[in-house]
Amino acid sequence: MKKITVELRNPYTCLIECGALAHAGSLVRKYVPEDGMAVMVTTATVRRHWGNPVENSLRQAGVRHQVLEMRDGERYKTMATVEDLAERLVGLGSDRSTVMVALGGGVVGDVTGFAAAVYMRGLDVLQLPTTLMAMIDSAIGGKTGVNLKAGKNLVGVFHQPRAVLIDPLALNSLPEREYRSGLSEAIKYGIIRSRELYAMLERRRQEVRRRDPGCLETMIAECVRMKAEVVAADERESDLRRILNFGHTFGHALESATEYRRFLHGEAVAWGMIAACRLAARLRRLSGEVARAISENILALTQPLPRIAVDAEKIWQNAGSDKKSRGGVLSFVLPREIGQVEVVRGVPEATVRETWQEIIEFSHEHGTE
Ligand SMILES: NC(=O)c1ccc[n+]([C@@H]2O[C@H](COP(=O)([O-])OP(=O)(O)OC[C@H]3O[C@@H](n4cnc5c(N)ncnc54)[C@H](O)[C@@H]3O)[C@@H](O)[C@H]2O)c1
Ligand SMILES: [Zn+2]
Repeated sequence: MKKITVELRNPYTCLIECGALAHAGSLVRKYVPEDGMAVMVTTATVRRHWGNPVENSLRQAGVRHQVLEMRDGERYKTMATVEDLAERLVGLGSDRSTVMVALGGGVVGDVTGFAAAVYMRGLDVLQLPTTLMAMIDSAIGGKTGVNLKAGKNLVGVFHQPRAVLIDPLALNSLPEREYRSGLSEAIKYGIIRSRELYAMLERRRQEVRRRDPGCLETMIAECVRMKAEVVAADERESDLRRILNFGHTFGHALESATEYRRFLHGEAVAWGMIAACRLAARLRRLSGEVARAISENILALTQPLPRIAVDAEKIWQNAGSDKKSRGGVLSFVLPREIGQVEVVRGVPEATVRETWQEIIEFSHEHGTE
């Protein structure tokens, strides 16, 4: 078992343990008041795989509880879903003594966290993430919210969970592509902040890819530790938290240019991180050799990746104007060496465009149909 504390004004722990979901009840009980209840939000898919162990353990621990299913998928990460959950909470007689439990991927976590933040001006929430993305990123840090038609995550609020419980074995049922997409965020942590994690992902690549439980526990704990550090140092978004956006300028633009249909988030970020390495090399802030080595490692961990079938201009148009320029100057999070990144300001637009063009060509050699 690994235990990592997020050191905020109200600190909370992230527990990482294989088999933890089957013991979730004893953790949940600690947070539910005597006369209160737990309301777990999940999806039909996640419930089919992991509902039984969690619900059994809640029963065994004597926790009064209800389960609310929400529809699966990013397109249901909406105000309408939050409203529907809130209406159903009323139906269950939920008041401030209710504790929400999010069992699922990032979508369930973000929606449940947001619903918890706004229902009766705030309920406690526990995060039980079941995708790699959620385990190492979205469940920690308290960012909650939903999408609008105009764009992703445009409505939201910071609402920290009371605890995060991570069971690496939950990944056993995760579709292969979702898992690989999560690995992209794992290697991101290595590149930005930890040589050790980076080296481990390289050395134990086969075990990581086949989801060896011991390996997963180590990898997840390392990522959680880094996310927790960054969040604690800087709860609201700014420079330190910004380094977590490594690979995301290009990644987000690519997702948006392809209407969020072609790439999973992590896949787009994989290309984005490769683009950032190239850009750093072009600017002579990273040796070409290291840039190539990092790119190869990213590919080996995350392939197959869909190739990029849109042109550079379209991707450029989809790069958010806020990201593209702060006061007319382009700035990027770029690697200095393995385990260290820097925010580079004043990057010439032409260099960025050339690099992105190069990545599109590179994706045609290394990506799949
Ligand atoms: N709050 C944050 O800080 C933060 C950070 C990163 C991402 N996010 C958000 O997270 C969301 C993406 O999360 P995601 O990648 O987890 O996607 P997701 O929640 O859509 O889950 C992906 C798919 O996996 C399925 N699934 C989940 N767990 C499973 C399991 N154990 N076995 C089988 N199937 C399972 C889900 O049903 C879904 O179909 C986005 O909305 C993104 O904006 C938030
Ligand atoms: Zn990301």
